[in-house]
Amino acid sequence: MRSIPRAEVLVPSFTFASSVNVILFERATPVFVDIEPDTYNLNPNDLERKVTPRTKAIMVVDVFGHPAEWDEILRIAEKYNLKVIDDSCEALGAEYKSHALRVMSPSFRIKAHKRKANGKS
Ligand SMILES: Cc1ncc(COP(=O)(O)O)c(C=O)c1O
Repeated sequence: MRSIPRAEVLVPSFTFASSVNVILFERATPVFVDIEPDTYNLNPNDLERKVTPRTKAIMVVDVFGHPAEWDEILRIAEKYNLKVIDDSCEALGAEYKSHALRVMSPSFRIKAHKRKANGKS
C-alpha cells in the first residue's frame, strides 16, 4: 500500500495498538469503525458506512479470540473490492463456523502472537 497515496484502511476502534501502527507505517490512513458491544469486534453496519472511494482494505481483528462477523465482512470486502487483512494475533486456536480464524482472510494475515485467545499476555 506504500505507493497508494492516502489509502484508507478500516480498523476496529478497539484493538491492540499494533493493528493501527502497521497502517500508519505504510503511510495509509486508519479509519476507525464502531465495535459490537458484546465482542468488541467490527460492527458490519458501521464498516459499510465508512467505505469511501479511498478505502483499500479492512483490518479485521478477532479481539480476545472472539470471532468477528466474517461472513458479513467478506461480503462487504467483495462488494467494494477491498483487501482483507486478518490480524488473528489474539485468536490462536479460535474458530468461526468450523474454520480456524487464522485462515479466514483470502489475502493476508498477521501471525499469532502474545495476547492470545486465553487473554494472557
Ligand atoms: C490484536 C493484536 N495485533 C497484533 C499484536 C502483535 O503486536 P506486536 O507484533 O507489535 O507485538 C498483538 C499482540 O498482543 C495483538 O493483540
